[in-house]
Amino acid sequence: MKQKPCYILGIESSCDDTAASILNHNKVLSNCITNQKIHTEYGGVVPELASRAHQSNIVPVVDFALKKAKIQCKDLSAIAFTQGPGLLGSLLVGGSFAKSMSLGLNIPLIAVHHMQAHLLVHFIKSKEIIPPSFPFIGVNISGGHTQIILVNDYFKMKVIGSTIDDAIGEAFDKCGKLIGLKYPAGPEIDRLSQNGNSYRFEFPIPKVNNLNVSYSGVKTAFMNFIIKEKQNNLKFVQENINDICASIQKILIKIIFQKINLAVKETGIKTVAIGGGVSANSELRKLLKNQTEINKWNVHIPPIEYTTDNGAMIGIAGYYKWRENNFTSLSTPSQARIDF
Ligand code: KG4
Ligand code: ZN
Repeated sequence: MKQKPCYILGIESSCDDTAASILNHNKVLSNCITNQKIHTEYGGVVPELASRAHQSNIVPVVDFALKKAKIQCKDLSAIAFTQGPGLLGSLLVGGSFAKSMSLGLNIPLIAVHHMQAHLLVHFIKSKEIIPPSFPFIGVNISGGHTQIILVNDYFKMKVIGSTIDDAIGEAFDKCGKLIGLKYPAGPEIDRLSQNGNSYRFEFPIPKVNNLNVSYSGVKTAFMNFIIKEKQNNLKFVQENINDICASIQKILIKIIFQKINLAVKETGIKTVAIGGGVSANSELRKLLKNQTEINKWNVHIPPIEYTTDNGAMIGIAGYYKWRENNFTSLSTPSQARIDF
């Protein structure tokens, strides 16, 4: 049977990236993004500035995504947008834009949960991606979230563990700020760690029950350590930057890695898929790949372009909702907090 044509526009604007992507069914035709450089000077995302930048960026980004995909507005079948969670002012820009476009073109509107979308990138049709089979353990690790999820189906997801305080990406960014790295510090810590000795400095692993994790204690321990060492040597950070990065990265990754191991043990599910910005981390990717050989896990690691926030993740979630005619109304609110 011939498939009916399907072109989905996915719009992501939950934090500081304005992103748009066009998918033909589950295949990505374009994936365009504008990062907001303005936040680097402030050491973190400033919500008010993020909303304003989304307003300037959204039209050009969507226009560029359409042109790159070589399609026109009239070809679109539906528009998917991030409903939440995220910064409300940022979400409202993408949400209102998606609603106006769906009204203007008289095509369906699809509301997408940002964290579900991070995991659904594993179902994008691509030579580099092998989709996981259900059920699997989803690990969502980003600047705002740290979650271990039991994924039974595309939209049947249950959080079985999460952070009790800071998110892992937040810990990377805050530790990086303490040693003078620009926001977001995660990728820079990863890069500097490549030439560092991760055994040089030790930090405590917090004891947290079940599948939950904590990152605030290690962040405080790191801060105290840096203050103390700088009292003895003002150039301590400069002289030891690679070893400092490698040592803190090792502990931040170990905390989540131990809980992924526990989740596999407790559920008996050996298929693990990671998503979110921190899934770009090379140390975690290496540890997980090792598990395929050592413990015969089926590990699914997304291509780098689908790790941090992007429009394709919203587009693929939109595609699976489109298949089920799971559309939303123009009155659907954007939500800063939203359950699965
Ligand atoms: O998913 P994402 O783009 O946005 C949120 O939804 O939060 O994740 C951004 C986070 C930032 O905290 C950033 O520092 C972190 O992902 N990140 C990394 C790496 N690349 C991005 N953390 C560690 N290693 C990386 N290679
Ligand atoms: Zn995200």
